[in-house]
Amino acid sequence: MRKIGVIGIGHVGATVAHIIIAQGLADELVLVDKNSDKVAADALDFRDAASLLSTHATIHTGTAADLTDADLVISALGHIDLIKPGGDRFTELKANTPEVQQVGADLKKAGFNGVLIVISNPVDVITGIYQKATGLPTNQVFGTGTYLDTARLKRVLGETLHVDPRSVQGYMLGEHGDSQFAAWSTVKILGQDIQSLIAQHHLDLDKIANDARVGGFTVFNGKKYTNFAIAHAAVSLAQLVLSDARNEAIVSHYDDKFKSYISTPAIIGRAGVVQTFDLPLTPDEEIALQQSADAIVQKTADY
Ligand code: LAC
Repeated sequence: MRKIGVIGIGHVGATVAHIIIAQGLADELVLVDKNSDKVAADALDFRDAASLLSTHATIHTGTAADLTDADLVISALGHIDLIKPGGDRFTELKANTPEVQQVGADLKKAGFNGVLIVISNPVDVITGIYQKATGLPTNQVFGTGTYLDTARLKRVLGETLHVDPRSVQGYMLGEHGDSQFAAWSTVKILGQDIQSLIAQHHLDLDKIANDARVGGFTVFNGKKYTNFAIAHAAVSLAQLVLSDARNEAIVSHYDDKFKSYISTPAIIGRAGVVQTFDLPLTPDEEIALQQSADAIVQKTADY
């Protein structure tokens, strides 16, 4: 029995739940939200679709106490209403922290010992707060981090070069926020280093990296939230966990070098982050990663 809990059924959490159900990823799906009327209506709405789906899932509302035996919990709670255009995801920190601490404590009290995937922003800091509040081993708690920003980089490059974004390899590293950067030394398209394509395609790498970095706000400016790409990011990570894929993904995980959660590549499997590895970054990229880690620490102190 694959049991998943989704905590925070706003735009993001509802989309996460919808993708899980549409893809038949869970046998039991527990929807947790403080707005009991809304989450009950969402669960009923999903159950109304049951006869139209090719797979079955038992879908119901609940609380953290119902997640003792969950394989996976995805946290999508947040206060996106606090974010201003061109703002910073740290704006949500003060409002999200007490809720995250409470949910984490409730999961610990329930004896949850699965994998916790965190979307809630500012995700690098919130993931660390969840890890402390749940008391789970660091490998079992990770955030979507720059997995989404990396997808945005692939989208920008794919559209620029007229190729499927899945033909693009490489990473956005660091904070899921303003200090993230494109590690160009890792970027290949159709097996070719990006550097070999710059002249031929008149690529402006700074603009491309910035379009990826601000991609969340570009969407936010049009509809005051983001949901589709982040939900697919979280669910694709959930699939890696549930299938014990041991596949590489760029997630916000605890990095002892920086004493912080930060996005660098990891191997994802049934136990969460099952392995990490050092990337052969250039000296400038190493500096940018350290600066991003410093920014996470500094902004945590400032907000
Ligand atoms: C975004 C949110 C999830 O970048 O931070 O879309």
